[in-house]
Amino acid sequence: MDLKDQIDIDKLPKHIAIIMDGNGRWAKQHGRPRVFGHRNGVKAVRETTEAAAELGIEYLTLYAFSTENWNRPKFEVNALMTLLVETIRKEVETLNKNNIRLNAIGDIDKLPTKSRDALLEAIENTKTNTRMTLVLALNYSAKWEIIEAVKDIAHQVKTDNLAIDQINEDVFKSALSTRNIPDPEFLIRTSGETRISNFLLWQIAYSELYFTPVFWPDFRKNHFYQAILDFQNRERRFGMTSEQVN
Ligand code: FPP
Repeated sequence: MDLKDQIDIDKLPKHIAIIMDGNGRWAKQHGRPRVFGHRNGVKAVRETTEAAAELGIEYLTLYAFSTENWNRPKFEVNALMTLLVETIRKEVETLNKNNIRLNAIGDIDKLPTKSRDALLEAIENTKTNTRMTLVLALNYSAKWEIIEAVKDIAHQVKTDNLAIDQINEDVFKSALSTRNIPDPEFLIRTSGETRISNFLLWQIAYSELYFTPVFWPDFRKNHFYQAILDFQNRERRFGMTSEQVN
C-alpha cells in the first residue's frame, strides 16, 4: 500500500511546522555553491505544500529565514531574499488555483523593501483562500516574538487596559504573531540536526518532534507522509497517564 493510503485522515495534525534545513550541505555534497541548495529547496517547498493541502492539513508553517540568518555572508543573504521574492511572485497563481492562503510571521518590517512588498502583495492576493494557510516564518525568531508579546502586554497594563492578574495563557497567546493560528501538533526538522533553533518556542510546548536525516532539497511527498505516519503512531498524553488518554 502507498504511504499516503496508510495515513488516517481523521487523525491528521491541524498544523505542521517545518524547519527546512540542509540546503548548504546538500549543495556541498553536489560540489556546488550554497545558493544552489536554496534554489533546489524551492522544489521541496512546492512538493510539501502540495502534499499538505492534498491531505487536508489546515496550517503549514515553514521556517524560511531566521533573525540569526542575517549573520550569513552578504551574498547568501541577498540570494535568499531574491529567491524569496521570485518564488512568492511566481507561486501566487498556483496558491490561488489551489485555494491556499499565504501568511507570514516574523519581523516583516525589517525585510528589504522588495521582499516585503512581494510578500504583502501575495498575502493580500490570497487572503480569501480557505483550503490551507501556508505560513512563512521570515525574519522570525521565537525569542523576538516573545519579547514583542511581553512589550504588548506591558503596554496594555500600563495603559490600564489589562490587570496583572488577568494575564494568563490566552492573553499571552493573543499577543503572539501566531494569535490566529492553532499551535502545531507536529514539528519536522530535516538534515539530521536535532535542535529547535529559536523556532516557535511557546507554540511547540506539546508538539511532537520529528527529525529526519534527509536534506531539505531532497525532501519529497513520501518523506512527508512517512513523518505523518510516525506522528499517528504516537500517544499524545499531555502530562496524563496512558490509561487516562485511552
Ligand atoms: C536551511 O538550510 C535553509 C534556509 C535557511 C533557507 C530556506 C529557504 C528555501 C528553501 C528557499 C525558499 C523558500 C521559500 C519559502 C520560498 P541551510 O542553509 O541552513 O543548510 P546547512 O545547514 O546545510 O548549511
